[in-house]
Amino acid sequence: MQPVSLRNVSKVYHLDAVEVAALNEVSLDIEAGRFTVISGPSGSGKTTLLNLIGCIDRPDRGEVIIAGQAVQDMKDDALSDFRARHIGFVFQNFNLLPVLSAYENIEYPLLLGKVAPAERRRRVRELIDAVGLTGRGDSRPGQLSGGQRQRVAIARALVHSPALVLADEPTANLDRQTGAAIIALMRQLQHERGVSVVVSSHDPQVQAEADTSIHIRDGQIVDSEAEVTA
Ligand SMILES: Nc1ncnc2c1ncn2[C@@H]1O[C@H](COP(=O)(O)OP(=O)(O)O)[C@@H](O)[C@H]1O
Ligand SMILES: [Mg+2]
Repeated sequence: MQPVSLRNVSKVYHLDAVEVAALNEVSLDIEAGRFTVISGPSGSGKTTLLNLIGCIDRPDRGEVIIAGQAVQDMKDDALSDFRARHIGFVFQNFNLLPVLSAYENIEYPLLLGKVAPAERRRRVRELIDAVGLTGRGDSRPGQLSGGQRQRVAIARALVHSPALVLADEPTANLDRQTGAAIIALMRQLQHERGVSVVVSSHDPQVQAEADTSIHIRDGQIVDSEAEVTA
């Protein structure tokens, strides 16, 4: 099943008396099990687009279909429940809770559900190893480097085993080498776990890793080309 379909999606922000058309009639399809990169300059609408796909925000017009389900008219409770089950989200500024350890940050989404303690422990430990943070589970975000924080955020995004992982400029606050390692990790996890990953970035280094590239400018898709990879 197609993880993401958008049909004629528009989003307008109201800033005092000014209307900002952040997305204008965007239609796109994202294929399952791929590493899709949405690229475009600052202000082009990448965050708005990912927030709509991630059910963090709603469109003014058009349809957002995630895992076969039209989500734009779902009630708030149903939408957050849907988001928790289907989507993992990685933010540019990591968005970790500073008073919790790495372990607790990763575990946190599971506490909102009904996962038994032993199963929680198993999943969190497995992910700590999978993202290369073995032995750092007790560290708080403030005791970790930017790259390590983003590894925690990636583990947290995967802890519910979502089919779709979204990352909004996940390397923008990292140096080049650390950014490359984070993208390599996301690529590896995407491959191993068969999840669909959608990353926004204006970084050519990230764009070079794409199975599929989608370009956005002034709130519109300018062209999207699929590259054939083995
Ligand atoms: N909350 C908001 N209120 C008003 N305007 C916004 C808001 N968020 C984004 N915008 C505007 O919408 C456009 C797209 O922004 P955004 O999606 O953040 O782009 P990008 O992530 O590509 O930098 C920009 O013109 C931006 O200024
Ligand atoms: Mg942005």
